Amino acid sequence: MASSSPSPLRVLTGITPSGTPHLGNYVGSIRHSVRQSVAPGVESYFFLADYHALIKVQEPAKIQRSTLEIAASWLACGLDPERVTFYRQSDIPEIPELTWFLTCVTGKGVLNRAHAYKAQVDKNTAKGEDVDADVTAGLFMYPVLMGADILMFNAHKVPVGRDQVQHIEMARDMAQRFNHLYGDHFTLPDAEIDEAVATLPGLDGRKMSKSYNNTIPLFTPRAQLQKQIASIVTDSRAPGEPKETEGSALFQIYQAFASADETEALRKSYAEGIAWGDAKQVLFERIDREVAPLRERYEALMADPAQIERTLLAGADKARALSRPFMTRLRHAVGLRNLADAGDGAKARKGGKGAGKAGFKQYRERDGMFYFKLLDASGETLLQSRAFASPQEAGRTIAALQEQRGAALATYADRLEPIATDEGLRAASEALEALSEATATTKGG
Ligand code: TRP
Repeated sequence: MASSSPSPLRVLTGITPSGTPHLGNYVGSIRHSVRQSVAPGVESYFFLADYHALIKVQEPAKIQRSTLEIAASWLACGLDPERVTFYRQSDIPEIPELTWFLTCVTGKGVLNRAHAYKAQVDKNTAKGEDVDADVTAGLFMYPVLMGADILMFNAHKVPVGRDQVQHIEMARDMAQRFNHLYGDHFTLPDAEIDEAVATLPGLDGRKMSKSYNNTIPLFTPRAQLQKQIASIVTDSRAPGEPKETEGSALFQIYQAFASADETEALRKSYAEGIAWGDAKQVLFERIDREVAPLRERYEALMADPAQIERTLLAGADKARALSRPFMTRLRHAVGLRNLADAGDGAKARKGGKGAGKAGFKQYRERDGMFYFKLLDASGETLLQSRAFASPQEAGRTIAALQEQRGAALATYADRLEPIATDEGLRAASEALEALSEATATTKGG
């Protein structure tokens, strides 16, 4: 990327709203991600991947419910929407548009090899059915939509489970291919797999997962939590008999919540023959100690869905301040351009007469302050600055606009008169693109 300032590490996390968050999600992702989001030097993006949810879930009420529950869960667990960018994928129309751009640079053969699609094909083949039975084009295109999620915000790091690593690699390939064709627009993302994060066993001892139906919902009421914990599998050892910690789901879940000292204490109790009922009570109390204050916040949030809606819309505004100008830049890059702009062809015939030169004009007003505007070739104003105390300050803002183009429109919004319409914004971004291209051409030749 062109930016030269010491840029923060951009970390992007997507959550598909296709169910109710459980303790495994909390321990395996939410708790860790919320902590990481407040680390210095990190700029976090969290979003609800509801377009992705449509691939698996075709019950509208369930999508809506899950989106609400997941948003409330993350907020209850301490995600700070002032500090991070927290949004809903379907509020960002630039994402499906970018999906199409990426679709056009992605080999179909690459998508044939994507795990989720291939698994379904293998299953069909084994059953002697048509290879594509029960495969929607949505499932097939899943990795491209995910690529758009990631590349739209130029994420450096994407924390994911192992099953998603291939998707990040595909996003990287899409970025590379696009950059090769159209110039350096995308950051190449890396997957981040945190080895320290625990995977939690579920009620039956297998990995806690929706697909095994062995989960404990994160914010189930206290009494329910106690009941569910009571149903975790144990062996048949009687009270007083020493118990094995190895392979004990109960012990592993405890460990994911407890400190090292607490864990040691339970290990000792196991050796001393604690009754399973008592061990379950210890586990219940420990989990509830951590979850109870979060549950209280969760319930308050769930009682006011309109507030969550507002939070997500504000997050979308923040996200779109980046995605809109970035998309303008990408549209220009691929050749979806204003026909009246001097295109590459016209530039080749340089010195062409008629049209004036588009560019910045700096001037001083009677108020003694300094201003600039960006004009198009016909002298129309595309961008009007606010007042600057010195010409140097005005000049620095012009330089930033020239370097960062469309993205700078959001960054320096407080130094510019607002642009009222989408067309106006697009025209200004395109002019900045064209200017920087013209400069590059001049420098090159
Ligand atoms: N596919 C991810 C999952 O099911 C969710 C997701 C969608 C995502 N888009 C993303 C994750 C972009 C990271 C980045 O877990």
